[in-house]
Amino acid sequence: MSLNIVVMAAGKGTRMKSRLPKVLQKLAGRALVRHVLDNTAALHADARIVITGHGADQVEAAIAGDGIRFVRQEPQLGTGHAIQQTVPALNAGGTTLILSGDTPLISTATTRALVEACAGDKLVLLTIEYADPTGYGRIVREGEAVKAIVEHKDASDEQRRIRECYTGIMAAPTEALKRWVGQLNNDNAQREYYLTDIVAMAVAEGVPVVGVKTADETEVLGVNSPSQLAQLERRHQLAQAEALMTAGVRLADPARFDLRGTLRCGQDVEIDVNCVFEGEVTLGDGVRIGANCVIRNVTIGAEARIHEFTHIDGEALGASVGEGALIGPFARLRPGAQLGAEVHIGNFVEVKNSTLAKGAKANHLAYLGDATVGERVNYGAGSITANYDGANKHRTIIGADVHVGSNCVLVAPITIGDGATVGGGSTLTKDVAPGQLAVARGRQIVISGWSRPQKKK
Ligand code: UD1
Ligand code: MG
Repeated sequence: MSLNIVVMAAGKGTRMKSRLPKVLQKLAGRALVRHVLDNTAALHADARIVITGHGADQVEAAIAGDGIRFVRQEPQLGTGHAIQQTVPALNAGGTTLILSGDTPLISTATTRALVEACAGDKLVLLTIEYADPTGYGRIVREGEAVKAIVEHKDASDEQRRIRECYTGIMAAPTEALKRWVGQLNNDNAQREYYLTDIVAMAVAEGVPVVGVKTADETEVLGVNSPSQLAQLERRHQLAQAEALMTAGVRLADPARFDLRGTLRCGQDVEIDVNCVFEGEVTLGDGVRIGANCVIRNVTIGAEARIHEFTHIDGEALGASVGEGALIGPFARLRPGAQLGAEVHIGNFVEVKNSTLAKGAKANHLAYLGDATVGERVNYGAGSITANYDGANKHRTIIGADVHVGSNCVLVAPITIGDGATVGGGSTLTKDVAPGQLAVARGRQIVISGWSRPQKKK
């Protein structure tokens, strides 16, 4: 039986007061509507249709791909009018699942249950009991049987006392849905074509209407304002934190943890407060992350220690930190940083597009860009690779056991052979052979008995 998924995303989101369309606002680093699509991807729908209107070009550009089709709704005359626009695009027969682009945390399990309950011949509504149902469409029942949804603005005082609300999510038999939305009118308080009016139509036709109640508020909470967005973000972050802790990860404080992507953790991982993880991050067994780190697109090996205030961003290229490495505090790893086992990167050291072999150390105030660094190299404080000549980038190759003193400039392209030593304060422009000492700085002059100038009276 064919399944259509329709995501309504044409509304303006006035209360966000943003230039960005509401469904593109981010929750855990992903657009709201992207969550809806991702959370329902496992349903393997035959058609996935997103209804766009406000900021349609921007919304479509942001989520195009994966066979998603767009139907424009201009102007926006209500949720029923929105579904009317999709009628020609719906695969015949089967079930149509209707979701809202601004209700991001709806789960795979819940949507699958709705589709199964529908079975192509019932109208299934996802509902929830709210302590304060103000603003929502109310589920009007007679006994157990659902009779209608009445929008808050159209409801009588008695109906407004109903606490069971429509979540905006339903699964409908596709052919009946097409027929029903063709019969909607806008004879109501908001002069809109309400999708919710199809419930009474189904009842009149004798089509079974099923109200499925969810107890999980987070799943069905919509985003209308920056405040609601922040609240939902916190709920989502707490849920992610709980899942990690259930898997054995030790978070110093689940309320001060942010994951905007995927975090895979081995055993005995410890994460201190105020860390942000983005993109794809993998932490091996026994990894410890200090407070206030931002960590994006990197793989960190077992027993590595990331000290406080470290910033790691592998971007698209990725980055890796070897087993037992010590990074930070205040270190910065950029795309293409490939650090071997037991590498030490200390405070105010920046590494970009460079490979450091096992046991190499750069402990203070240094820059390594486009460099290949051998085992056990000691790279002194204040030293840099001058990798950019103003037009092109060049590589620096530093052999095993090289000792680079403090405040050196290695002008690339350059190769320093195994076991060589570079004297502090040197600016090197030529290769150094293995085992050589290279010193490239002004010789020290000593004048005995020198007296400093005196201040005139
Ligand atoms: C809707 C339901 C209400 C339910 C509530 C849950 C209707 C008539 N009412 O009300 O019963 O309790 O959701 O949150 O459906 N949209 C369009 N085109 C339009 C209008 C809306 O695409 O012309 C989209 C919006 O972008 C949004 C969704 O549909 O994603 C819901 O629209 P909204 O205006 O928020 O409906 P509510 O009044 O909240
Ligand atoms: Mg709404």
